[in-house]
Amino acid sequence: MCGIVGYIGKRQAKDLLIEGLHRLEYRGYDSAGVALVGGNKLKRVRALGKVGELEKKTEGMTLEATLGIAHTRWATHGKPSEKNAHPHADCAGAISIVHNGIIENYTELKDELTKKGHRFSSETDTEVVAHLIEEHTKKSKDIEEAFARALKDLRGTYGIAMVAVAEPERLYVARMGSPLLIGVGKDEYFVASDVSAILAHTKKVVYLEDGERAVITRDGYVVRSGQAVQKKTVSDIEWSEKEAKRGGYPHFMLKEIFDQPESFADALRGRLLPDEGSARLGGLRAVAKRLEGIRRIVIVSCGTSYHAGLVGEYMLEEYAGIPVEVEYASEFRYRKPLLDKYTAVLALSQSGETADTLAAIREAKNKGALALGIVNVVGSTIARETDAGVYNHAGPEVSVASTKAFTSQLAVLSLLTLYLGRKRGMSLVTGQRIARELLKLPRLMERIFEQSGTIKKLAKKYANRKNYLYLGRKYNFPIAFEGALKVKEIAYVSAQGYPTGEMKHGPIALIDREALALFIMPVDSVYEKSVSGLEEIKARGGTVLAITTEGNTALEKKADAVIYIPKTLEMLTPILSVIPLQLFAYHMSVALGYEVDRPRNLAKSVTVE
Ligand code: AGP
Repeated sequence: MCGIVGYIGKRQAKDLLIEGLHRLEYRGYDSAGVALVGGNKLKRVRALGKVGELEKKTEGMTLEATLGIAHTRWATHGKPSEKNAHPHADCAGAISIVHNGIIENYTELKDELTKKGHRFSSETDTEVVAHLIEEHTKKSKDIEEAFARALKDLRGTYGIAMVAVAEPERLYVARMGSPLLIGVGKDEYFVASDVSAILAHTKKVVYLEDGERAVITRDGYVVRSGQAVQKKTVSDIEWSEKEAKRGGYPHFMLKEIFDQPESFADALRGRLLPDEGSARLGGLRAVAKRLEGIRRIVIVSCGTSYHAGLVGEYMLEEYAGIPVEVEYASEFRYRKPLLDKYTAVLALSQSGETADTLAAIREAKNKGALALGIVNVVGSTIARETDAGVYNHAGPEVSVASTKAFTSQLAVLSLLTLYLGRKRGMSLVTGQRIARELLKLPRLMERIFEQSGTIKKLAKKYANRKNYLYLGRKYNFPIAFEGALKVKEIAYVSAQGYPTGEMKHGPIALIDREALALFIMPVDSVYEKSVSGLEEIKARGGTVLAITTEGNTALEKKADAVIYIPKTLEMLTPILSVIPLQLFAYHMSVALGYEVDRPRNLAKSVTVE
């Protein structure tokens, strides 16, 4: 998730663009850049770091330009650096583009273009687009046609803005999967990834839909889908700038919960191979040989990432047949773990900066183990220090309570299970079944959102209980831990997660009229066991909120309240069952009047021991 801004009008573009980037910085902040067209020149300036660095670099720039594009980056392909920062250009520097999204087939396109003599200067997927347009201009000098042809060659997601030195009166944009809009001003037009970048100048916007592209001049814009001109509506934005940043949601946490269908799909994008029932993980290519000889995996992580590791343990053992241990990194670093070169130590970390997890990885490397990472922040320390790894591609997670990073960690763990499983005896049929189900999950997640209102009522109803006992079995016992952590983090209540089977060995003593038991019990291979656990709680006068599979209405007779999740494979149920618990915690925190996104005593990245 990056931020794009563009401007064409009568005013000097530079400051308008940089001001817009500042407002989009929550979308990505590892590098930034601007390209300005004026006086038959195209000037590109890029800088590593936050927008402020770019601002410093462009101070005193004298180029008179009323046309320009700009970008603030959240790296996915190619670490944060000046040469990987956008805008990217073609060989001649005559075309400049900024991009938000992932070009899935960029390696193939890059190889073809290199064979045709194009020289690439970055590691990004995006730069390919500039060279592709250049290549098409060789056939027809018409840049608009070259732009349209290039778009046809792309697979993946994009919001793209493009300028060309030869056309100082035109701004080109296109959308497929990543948000992009046109801001309609007085004798001027803006383009932006979201309204927060341009609200200070206009509240009139035209939303581009997937497959649409537009040419914007100082007199107007023409939107096409294919060759057909689209009649577009101009919408009036009511939001304040703060609201706009949160996409109209009251808190980043709720926005990030509702972003999960997209972030989950992005984690799979360009990696899942449904027909082969497998996965392609480019980030592991360098250690592919060594990975084949691995005899055990030790997952090290903290907090929510630890809970993702617990789900990964079930997946990898059941479907890839590899022994897995999951360790709290803060303990692992002081234990004397028995590691050797046949052990892979896998760090899970959203931020990639968590001190305990970093120390655990360093310990693993000292002991000759293969150090791997599943990390969300590109170029972060854990990403740099591991031997190889996979990025989540979940985009920046602003709220301290992790939500979309968790489900995208489970997406990557599912891909790793397919990748290793298919090399270790998993059948094509099993692989294809898992792959097909993974592709359905974003839509299934949206079905759960329809119950947000019900969950809000339940969270309000049960917000003042003294004890919260989260219970789950097999793939969902880690979700009991995660659910309990969420309400602890943002609602400050006493909550414990337990494997349901462990309840009668002590925790059931907490059950009284002041307690709430939350059962995560989809209809799976251990469902019946969960039902008896539920009845034991009811027998002691406990209150039960159950999460189960759609259609299992029989449970309404046993539990005090039921929330439903769509049916999917047992190994994938945690990816759905966690969402009602995220919403429950969110609505409880709001009901109790707490600051949801910045909970007390916590930090988004714990970089101290
Ligand atoms: C989760 O909501 C918390 N923010 C916290 O437990 C977090 O998961 C933990 O600090 C690990 O962070 P990491 O994934 O960035 O390493």
